[in-house]
Formats: sequence, structure tokens, C-alpha cells
Amino acid sequence: MYNPPMFQVITHASEVLTGAGIRAKDGRKVTDDDLGRILDGALVLSVKTVRGKVIPQRIEWVGPTSQLPKRFSKIRATNLKGKRAIIPGLVDCHTHLVFAGDRSEDFAERCAGVSYQEIARKGGGIARTVRATQLASEAELLKSAELRAREMFAFGVRTLEIKSGYGLTLEDELKILRVAAQLKRKLPEMHIHSTFLGAHDFPPGIDRACKESRKDSIRQIVDVMLPEVKRLGLADSCDVFVDDGYFTLREGQHILTRAKQLGFSLKLHADELSNTESTRLAVKMAALSADHLLQVSLSGIRALAKSRKTVAVLLPGTAFYLKADHAPARKLIQAGACVALATDFNPGSSMCASLPAIMTIAALYLQMTRAEIFAAVTYNGAKALGCEDRLGTLEVGNLASFAILPFPKFEELYYRFAWSAGR
Ligand code: NIG
Ligand code: FE
Repeated sequence: MYNPPMFQVITHASEVLTGAGIRAKDGRKVTDDDLGRILDGALVLSVKTVRGKVIPQRIEWVGPTSQLPKRFSKIRATNLKGKRAIIPGLVDCHTHLVFAGDRSEDFAERCAGVSYQEIARKGGGIARTVRATQLASEAELLKSAELRAREMFAFGVRTLEIKSGYGLTLEDELKILRVAAQLKRKLPEMHIHSTFLGAHDFPPGIDRACKESRKDSIRQIVDVMLPEVKRLGLADSCDVFVDDGYFTLREGQHILTRAKQLGFSLKLHADELSNTESTRLAVKMAALSADHLLQVSLSGIRALAKSRKTVAVLLPGTAFYLKADHAPARKLIQAGACVALATDFNPGSSMCASLPAIMTIAALYLQMTRAEIFAAVTYNGAKALGCEDRLGTLEVGNLASFAILPFPKFEELYYRFAWSAGR
């Protein structure tokens, strides 16, 4: 009789970085000592076999290979021969993964000096992607999203947030969220968190200068979309793009209040293109995260530093791609905020699926240290999704989310700039 394996044993990793000290500090003001670096390390996981595929479940043991407990030493191990490092599975906590079409035309215009907002006013921008996404079938969207998720997996990402927001009608938003749900089933090796971003922009045909039209479309989100998304169990969180030319602070607050009542956790595209004090709103409403923060004020920074809940999610790929000034990462970290990094993968402002490339930008332009970067893409990213109690570090009892790197040192993940996952 076939006895499926119960444990997976990995030995002789060049190093295992557990990140245990990062959890102890809730991801704030971390230093090299918090990385929990174990040289010649081993990792033991409990496993389950799903459709013939061995899926790791929980972390059973972690430590130096020389101290591997006897009960695991009889199991045939995967020997990494000192050539590869093991880290907690990376968390990309802010992506717009599901969309159709591309924005290469917008990009060419931006390269010629036209601003992101100007392109949006002329009918490009988010609206261009919305048109393409509305026309696409669920199967087409699933196919492209799966390729993108697999690309991210190859870069070490094991936990992924996916926002809707390129549908904007009930049917099209549900279509995108169903794609995210299908991805969850297709990729059991990844943890997928889905976020409803129906308030990403106003749908086509809505006159955003007209108060009544705005009200109607917000009513549609609050009274129809949110309850339906909840009823179908299609999203964990709700996000709003509060910014100049998009949703106002009051509109954002209105939508998020209803979302909270319905039981969604909250996220916010905050202080990205202009300062709207939306970061403070995120903290006030105990959102999981305030994301972007290119224009965050000193009081926004202070609010984040005080919050035990709201993570500052920085997306330096977007500032790079929009040629904007970067978020004040050092100020946030020094003030005591919990700072995460993510790709913001989307066709307009960050067409980049590589979290390691974002880490490189963070090292060079946000002046983040290696421990801060590590924390930002592991524990802090998990906290921005509300799952830091089980993900983000390699500690016994946690979910078995880990990545074996194609390099002997963790630092090579981003010191080696824009490496190809297929190498
Ligand atoms: O996170 N800020 C809003 N949404 C995206 C951009 C979307 C787009 O340009 O398609 C962002 O930057
Ligand atoms: Fe975004």
C-alpha cells in the first residue's frame, strides 16, 4: 500500500533566515540580529498530498542541520549542499494582478513627458484597462493572471494579494474576483488574499464632475456591490483609491465604513498622487494598511508610527515608474511604523512582477537596510494582510510558507538586479 509522506526534510541550506526576531518586534526598527540567520540550516515541514502533489502544511522544526532531531533523520532529505538559502515565503501584499490589455501606448506618452493624470483625463489610464478587462472573458483573465502569479512564485512569492478594480460594474468586478478565487484553487502552494477595489475609479459614462453621478456610483458600490461580494465570499478586504481626481476622503470614508460593517478588513490607496490625509483615515479606521504614501504628511507618519495595526505599504516600483519622488521610508521607519514593500503590479503605474526588483529599488532609493527590506517582504507584508499570526517567519507551528532561493545568500535576491526567474 502506498503511504503518502508525512514530512518533508530539507538539509544543508547554505543559510536559513527565520525572521523570528522580526515577529518579536512587530516588524519595527529591526536590525540584522532579528533575521535569525542559521548557517548550514535545516527545515522540517509536515505535508499533505493533494491530487498527487505534495503540499507542505506546517513548520515542524527549524535549526542547524547538525542538530536535526533523530525522529526526522531517517526520512530521505532534500540536501541543498550548501548552495541555496531558505527564507520565509515572500509576501507581495499589493497587486492588481487581474486585468486585460496593456498600456504601452500610455507608457510611450509618459516617456514623452505627458503626466499620468493628463493621460487619464484623455481617456487612457485606468479607463483604458477597464475597457479591455470588461471585454475579456473570465477564462482569458484567468490565463494571464495565472502566468503572472507563477512568475511571482518563481521570484519566491508565496503569499499574494490580488485587487479587483478594473471591472467597475458589478458583473465585471465579480468576474475579476472569481478569477482570484479560481487562482486560489489552482495554486494551493500560494496563499491568495483578495481585495475588492470597486472604488478604483468611476465607471465609464459617469461624469465625475457631477455630484449626483458620483453619489449614484458610490451608492452602487455601498448598497449593491459590497453586500454581493460579501454574500458570495469573494473578497477578504475592501480598498479605495482616495486621491485627487478619484475618490474624495469623505467618499472613501463612507465606502470603508460600510465595508467594515459588513466584516471586510480595510486597505487604502493613500496619499499617492497628492496629499489628502487619507493615511490618517486609514489609521483612524484601523485599516490593515495605508499604501503608497508618496505624499504622506508628518501627521500621517506620526499616526502610522502610533498605530499597532496599520502597516505602511511602500511601492517604490510605482514611484520609479511614474518618475515621482519616493515615499519617506526612513522617516516612517525611524518614527516606529511597520513598513512593508510590494510590487503594486499593474499595467499603468508599475508593470513589474518582480518583488526582488522592488527590493533593489528600496535598497538604493528608500535607503532601507537589509533587515528592513527582509522584514518588509515577509512578516510586515503578512501583517498588511492580517495573517502575520501564521505567515511571515519560519517558526514552528507557522504555515509552511518558504522559498528555496537559487542563491546561497538572501542578499543576492536583490543585490543581483532584475534577475530572471527562469535562469
Ligand atoms: O496603485 N493608484 C491606483 N491604482 C494603481 C494604478 C492603476 C493603473 O494605472 O492602472 C496604483 O498605482
Ligand atoms: Fe495599487
